[in-house]
Amino acid sequence: MTAASYQSFTRVEPSSPSNKGLAPIASIQNTINDPYAAPARVPLDGSALPAQTHGRARSVSIPGAQAPRVLQPFDREEIKILLLENVSQGAVAMLREQGYQVDFHTGSWSEDELLEKIGEYHAIGIRSKTHLTKRVFSEAKKLLVVGCFCIGTNQVDLKAAGDRGIPVFNSPFANSRSVAELVIGEMVCLSRQLTDRAQEMRNGTWNKVSKNCYELRGKLLGIVGYGHIGSQLSVLAESMGMRVIYYDVLPLMPLGSARQADTLEELLGKADFVTLHVPELPETRGMIGAKQLAQMKKGSFLINNSRGSVVDLGALADAMESKHLAGCAVDVYPREPPKNGENMFTDELNPWASRLQKQPNVIMTPHIGGSTEEAQSMIGIEVGNALCRYLNFGSSVGAVNFPEVSLRPITESEVRVIRICYVHHNQPGALLAVNEIIGSHNVDKQSTDSLKDIAYLLADISDVSESDIRDIYTRLSKTPACILTRLLS
Ligand SMILES: NC(=O)c1ccc[n+]([C@@H]2O[C@H](COP(=O)([O-])OP(=O)(O)OC[C@H]3O[C@@H](n4cnc5c(N)ncnc54)[C@H](O)[C@@H]3O)[C@@H](O)[C@H]2O)c1
Repeated sequence: MTAASYQSFTRVEPSSPSNKGLAPIASIQNTINDPYAAPARVPLDGSALPAQTHGRARSVSIPGAQAPRVLQPFDREEIKILLLENVSQGAVAMLREQGYQVDFHTGSWSEDELLEKIGEYHAIGIRSKTHLTKRVFSEAKKLLVVGCFCIGTNQVDLKAAGDRGIPVFNSPFANSRSVAELVIGEMVCLSRQLTDRAQEMRNGTWNKVSKNCYELRGKLLGIVGYGHIGSQLSVLAESMGMRVIYYDVLPLMPLGSARQADTLEELLGKADFVTLHVPELPETRGMIGAKQLAQMKKGSFLINNSRGSVVDLGALADAMESKHLAGCAVDVYPREPPKNGENMFTDELNPWASRLQKQPNVIMTPHIGGSTEEAQSMIGIEVGNALCRYLNFGSSVGAVNFPEVSLRPITESEVRVIRICYVHHNQPGALLAVNEIIGSHNVDKQSTDSLKDIAYLLADISDVSESDIRDIYTRLSKTPACILTRLLS
């Protein structure tokens, strides 16, 4: 048996004339869950629980938690989630298992379609084609959270989301293994000139050669950027018998027998294969140009699966033409075609394209480093979990536009406990106003953080009565800094 649950929220509309200190609860009662729209159906001590619990399953995986209590909607309304762009079925199943009402569509929606329908939903899951604009957010009266079932979040107006107290989650690292495995495959292909031999066979040419073809065993791999991908690759490469050095701006613990190089120059001068796994930053733009290519060993190989801006590809074409490098693999480009199709990758798009296309032992792939079924499924699980954790527990860890705050769950054995999720403007006096409201109660735990203009507070309060909850909710919603107040129990 569980305690009664109490989930509701008030958002102070940014454009609302009443956004001058008082939360316009009455004015938004018709559009959001209203805790006062119906009398509390069950007491908070759990003594008279309703038989029907909206079918909400009571499990969500939170490491280290003991029987966390998952919330039910307080009033008649269920949590409605809109999933667009054919997100992974694993995520759909997970969210339905939680008892949410999930509307699943395979395509993306236009802004007009979103404007018409977004008002119904508490959460939305998209991939890269659906654009969540400021206009869309202004109509998203009930929206609590956005899940991007992909790596990037450029398609979302993150500022507009944050201003309305809406965290946006994505899955930046679910495809790390896919990229690491691709690099292993590319190293084998380059050192055996495999793609050239395969292309010759397609044309009917038999060219059995061993000259300048090598095993990977014993060769030195230089990894630039020893993060999620670089470190996984390090382990895989050693298991193939390679030796590994890496260069990173951070001093990082080596895995296996790998060794951190002191400088990029040292790595470039020693490695048989150089592979790049740095993020796109001002400092990494053009990080490998003519000078760095010249510092690489003659007959070595370069692989770039990171970002197109990291390598000067004109200089790479020079290094291939002069035979300084024995081969290269490139998956990412400064300018990439907007869609699949023939004759999309031309000199008009990238002026060095045909020069690289002509060179032997050059592997060019269309940004597929992370594109595997496993990665898609991992993305589904990761983003699905993030949505559940935010809706059920208020945890915003992993959000890209929002302060990251988490509290350990309220367990089944804890009754008469509420969790306050309070998104507010990061302004002086905001926390003082909150503490004046909750300070006289038993605050079990509390955590707060801010990111630019937005701040987020989670607090668990025990031994609260129904009238305490009403009072806390009303007063928090009226604090001058309030963006969104949500109570969970
Ligand atoms: N080809 C694809 O499809 C694909 C898929 C996934 C990721 N990626 C790209 O791969 C890259 C690496 O991803 P990740 O998940 O391993 O990132 P990560 O953030 O886990 O690791 C990046 C590492 O680079 C280091 N770094 C940052 N600046 C550096 C510099 N100037 N010099 C040396 N090291 C530096 C960081 O300290 C960090 O250890 C990113 O650019 C990402 O966008 C590409």
